[in-house]
Amino acid sequence: MTNVVVVGSQWGDEGKGKIVDWLSERADVVVRFQGGHNAGHTLVIDGVSYKLSLLPSGVVRPGKLAVIGNGVVIDPHALIAEMERLAKQGVTVTPESLRIADNATLILSLHRELDGIREDAASNSGTKIGTTRRGIGPAYEDKVGRRAIRVMDLADLDTLPAKVDRLLTHHNALRRGLGEAEVAHAAIMEELSSVAERVLPFMETVWALLDQKRRKGARILFEGAQGTLLDIDHGTYPFVTSSNTVAGQAAAGSGMGPGALGYILGITKAYTTRVGEGPFPTELHDEIGQFLGEKGHEFGTVTGRKRRCGWFDAALVRQSVAVNGITGIALTKLDVLDGLDELKICVGYKLDGEEIDHLPAAQAAQARCEPIYITLEGWKESTVGARSWADLPAQAIKYVRQVEELIGAPVALLSTSPERDDTILVTDPFED
Ligand code: GDP
Ligand code: IMO
Ligand code: MG
Repeated sequence: MTNVVVVGSQWGDEGKGKIVDWLSERADVVVRFQGGHNAGHTLVIDGVSYKLSLLPSGVVRPGKLAVIGNGVVIDPHALIAEMERLAKQGVTVTPESLRIADNATLILSLHRELDGIREDAASNSGTKIGTTRRGIGPAYEDKVGRRAIRVMDLADLDTLPAKVDRLLTHHNALRRGLGEAEVAHAAIMEELSSVAERVLPFMETVWALLDQKRRKGARILFEGAQGTLLDIDHGTYPFVTSSNTVAGQAAAGSGMGPGALGYILGITKAYTTRVGEGPFPTELHDEIGQFLGEKGHEFGTVTGRKRRCGWFDAALVRQSVAVNGITGIALTKLDVLDGLDELKICVGYKLDGEEIDHLPAAQAAQARCEPIYITLEGWKESTVGARSWADLPAQAIKYVRQVEELIGAPVALLSTSPERDDTILVTDPFED
């Protein structure tokens, strides 16, 4: 028995929510350890769809403990709104079912505003990242800049004014430079006091709670957000998010030692998508790209933006397997490939006449990379809802085997529709 870390192995939206929900039946605790409400994780249970952004996907299962770790940036307004939304769907979140790290950073309105101001300004200069405009980047900047307001500060009204002062010295200088109106001290104080009562009941010393759970033999499931190619260090910088999304962050972002992390499960879509700007070597601008987008319903859960689509990039996922230490993958959305005559897989790139087996780190070099493809025969049969290998056409099995070989990791789970139970179990990550 072990713990399991779920991470995205591509550019996000691989189907982490569905797989975390499926796995959470076997877990006692589900922990978010980075990102914020830029994430959009969709679960479909008996035809009912749940969209989670900030709350761990385990909250929909009664009796499971959901934890938001210190590595997450929390917009308290978004948190409250998400709990209210879920309540309307019959899911009640209480301090018994959700704990939030006292040392997690808060996203405030000024962060959201700044994200939007920068993106708008960048639109005119061609340097836009295409962020979710949720204030994620600005909040992480303040955390690293040691001027953030954290969850625990909501409980300490005596020292809060000095912390707000510090924050505003920085932000108002920035805002003046950008030609924006300054933010008043009173406005921030009011914003914080308006949410304190709703957030504080969930506050917890999360590292200690997890330590206690681990010692008692609880099964802990870590739910990553975004994907490895969006990681602040390992992704396609600067077109990335502002946190480490790789598996190692599960330890730092929750306060549980890395030795206890266990099985690293990379969630991997059977093709590739990306939302926002940035390089994407296997992107398809033709009717096949359109086919994948329509059949896969590739529209952002959070922003509704159309996701860019392309062939499976084995070189990228091989890189993800290495930087995350992926033990096995959950291959999702195989069903979306049903009906295509042939399928291509990128196995490396051509860069300035040379063949390379990984995406280089430099932005300009990434843009010049041309994919090298192998071609496989497609299949005409439907794999939608398949629940065993025996239900899969021979060509689909060949495709899966080829993916495993190229990325150097085995398929532990295979997903064949958005529904919770349309999942094939090959190896149970908790028992590996
Ligand atoms: P996440 O951000 O990684 O949790 O992924 P999203 O929820 O943003 O996007 C994945 C989308 O694909 C969601 O709408 C899921 O319901 C859907 N999905 C997940 N697995 C499968 C699958 O195997 N087949 C199909 N057709 N859809 C899937
Ligand atoms: P889930 O967890 C896909 C992308 C944005 C943008 C970049 C930076 O659902 O897989 P940010 O708002 O984080 O500063 O935006 O990262 N991005 C995601 N793309 N899935 C996500 O989350 C994403 N979260 C952020 O589109 O390109
Ligand atoms: Mg998503």
